[in-house]
Amino acid sequence: MNETKARDEIARLSRSLYERGYSVGSAGNISLRLEDGYLITPTNSCLGFLDPARISKLDAQGRHVAGDRPSKEVFLHTAFYETRSVAGAVVHLHSTYATAISCMQGVEPEDCIKPLTPYVVMRVGKVALVPYFRPGDERGGTLIRALNGRYAAVLLANHGPVVSGKDILSTVYAAEELEETAKLLVTLGDRPVNYLSDENVTELHRIFGE
Ligand code: 13P
Repeated sequence: MNETKARDEIARLSRSLYERGYSVGSAGNISLRLEDGYLITPTNSCLGFLDPARISKLDAQGRHVAGDRPSKEVFLHTAFYETRSVAGAVVHLHSTYATAISCMQGVEPEDCIKPLTPYVVMRVGKVALVPYFRPGDERGGTLIRALNGRYAAVLLANHGPVVSGKDILSTVYAAEELEETAKLLVTLGDRPVNYLSDENVTELHRIFGE
């Protein structure tokens, strides 16, 4: 995808997320890997009203080279690109239900969104919980790099989800799937739940890939 098309695609999908309530105010940020660097939404911008021409551009070393000042969460994004060579886009949201789970006690840090439905297995995979750090703290990048690329998606404790994927459309779909699964989990609450079995998960990976 060329840079002009990539800018338009970030603005189009960001607006779609905003209009459907996955992002509010100036929460959330989205990035995309280019051949010569990265595009990332500017800090304090509203995902509903991005000007494609003002989206920030970073060079391959992560230096800001064009557009408005980049998101303060740039470290989260670059940590995914560094540790997952397959990552072509990263989406960070404060979407309500995934964020609710990130605040709960007793969540399993190595597997915080259980395999409730096939699509969360197919589109998101296992999700790790990363300990709390303040927004914009470079430690966030260090904590994600420490996962060594084993997870395409993480929940930041008391903050929200960060999802990576091969391109921007599939990454947005994965972020939506994660949020809707979190909503199901919160809705089910303390009721006894049938999760997919290990065999079910293995079959999904075999047929649809990891
Ligand atoms: P930015 O406005 O710097 O992108 O930060 C928003 C956000 O989601 C913080 O976590």
